[in-house]
Amino acid sequence: MEVLDYIYNRYSVRDFKSDAIPDDVLDTILEAGRLAPSGQNRQCWQFIVVTDKDIIKKIARHSFIGLINHFLSNAPVVIVACADPEKSLVLNDQPMYLVDLTLSFQQMIMAAWNYGIGSCWLGGFHEKSLKKVLNIPEQIRIVAMSPFGYPAEKKSFYSKVVSLVSSSKKRLAKEQIIHYNIWEDK
Ligand SMILES: Cc1cc2nc3c(=O)[nH]c(=O)nc-3n(C[C@H](O)[C@H](O)[C@H](O)COP(=O)(O)O)c2cc1C
Repeated sequence: MEVLDYIYNRYSVRDFKSDAIPDDVLDTILEAGRLAPSGQNRQCWQFIVVTDKDIIKKIARHSFIGLINHFLSNAPVVIVACADPEKSLVLNDQPMYLVDLTLSFQQMIMAAWNYGIGSCWLGGFHEKSLKKVLNIPEQIRIVAMSPFGYPAEKKSFYSKVVSLVSSSKKRLAKEQIIHYNIWEDK
């Protein structure tokens, strides 16, 4: 597959087969994140690769309210993407750790897709309690996490509802988001 094919056909996967991800494939996915660009090459990121089923279940319990995001408990791997804000740049009053981390984690997500491995960026979780579960130091922020695994043959009712509620196939039209030369009111 070419890069553009990955971009066009990627979607968030919320239903997983129980099949493990081979170690060499997982290493390649992590390497794709390691090679990402970052402001002044500060690389303020840290990733926790969780394969222990009990810890994955605990993460699922702290992933938002009720059953939302509980689906991650079915994945063979969960990666928790952390950053140290003190190590990254602030530019124009904007903290760059969010940008750095996002570039790195998205590269992992796309590298995984190359192997037919699905994922789902998760921003809904209870950071404070999750930090306790994973023994994460005070100054470190959890920016995101994602389950990784081979997509199940069929989508569950839950994931169909989530896709529907977030209109996940829809994107704003080019005319609504692209400005040529100067800002135009739209
Ligand atoms: C910052 C961010 C936070 C997200 N948080 C969640 C989440 O907590 N739970 C979830 O199921 N999906 C979450 N998503 C996935 C989005 O719902 C999904 O990317 C969007 O609906 C587009 O669908 P697609 O990824 O299938 O193209 C998140 C995505 C991003 C970028």
